[in-house]
Amino acid sequence: MPIGYGKVILLGEHSVVYGRPALGAAIGVGCRVEASPAHRDHMAVELAGARSKAAISVGFGGPPPEPLAFELTLERPASHPEHEKMRLGLRALLESYGQRPNALRIDLRMEVPGGAGLGCSAACGVAIVRALDEVYGIKRDAAAVAQASMPWERIFHGNPSGMDSAIAASGAVAIFRKGRPLQLISAGGPLELVIGHSGVVSSTITTVTAVADLHAKYPSQTEALFDEIAGLVDSAAAAVRSGELGALGRLMSRNHQLLSSLKVSTPGLDEMCAAAITAGALGAKLTGKGGGGCMIALAPDHPTAERIAAQLQQLNRETMIVGGASTP
Ligand code: PMV
Repeated sequence: MPIGYGKVILLGEHSVVYGRPALGAAIGVGCRVEASPAHRDHMAVELAGARSKAAISVGFGGPPPEPLAFELTLERPASHPEHEKMRLGLRALLESYGQRPNALRIDLRMEVPGGAGLGCSAACGVAIVRALDEVYGIKRDAAAVAQASMPWERIFHGNPSGMDSAIAASGAVAIFRKGRPLQLISAGGPLELVIGHSGVVSSTITTVTAVADLHAKYPSQTEALFDEIAGLVDSAAAAVRSGELGALGRLMSRNHQLLSSLKVSTPGLDEMCAAAITAGALGAKLTGKGGGGCMIALAPDHPTAERIAAQLQQLNRETMIVGGASTP
């Protein structure tokens, strides 16, 4: 079943916006999609995740060249604002195929929550492109799949850097730098990660703007922080390659301190990181936008990952243990 992977940022969020590198890792779960020819002239999208279930029908207008007409019907009331984005995203993707995609059924299964900084939307976009490619007999590599999914991702994130989509398609650990091809890293061993959700929904635009304000006010100090983070990212990539998990963990924790200096951490995220370290994590940090959202902890092995998850659950936090990226 075609898949797009979810992701975590191991190191380098925010400084990546200012041209520094970031190290991301696909997390082995994401979004799976199946597309198949259907009998009726409509497209049904099943969201079969635990958190949402809806069917979106996309009806088509008359025969080409009449423009495609779309309509949205939901099994449930439109309580999920993302449904409208999904409809627009699908339309953008289908239009980019440049052919009339009549009578398709698309089943979409989300394994990661949306809005948590885990790259759910990019994973869905990549999986849909892969499923449509199967139907239309199109073959392309991961980079081209990521590129083809960007019309979808732009509906969700306006002006995305492309990191999420590139990692969603590669399923790998990789260095991302704006404007450059994704640089895949061959991991020397599995990365056992615990993801903890702070329970606070935050917005990428808000924290990115807050960092921009800080940067405008204290340019040299902020640039120095970005440079230090860039150095951590380089060292972390080397640690991933050689499987030096202890070193990677220390670099992640240092990155968290620097993100705190950028004021994107919260007391809740700090508390979760501290709890994870107490439970045996090699390192812990917020991941993604901050201001809420998720943190990650690197565990030396699976039993420790379970202990870390249990510790975070005692703080009433939702957790997920992921086996890290599948190496390309
Ligand atoms: O939206 P998230 O939580 O996956 O994080 C975005 C990462 C940032 O570096 C903060 C922003 C960006 O565009 O790279």
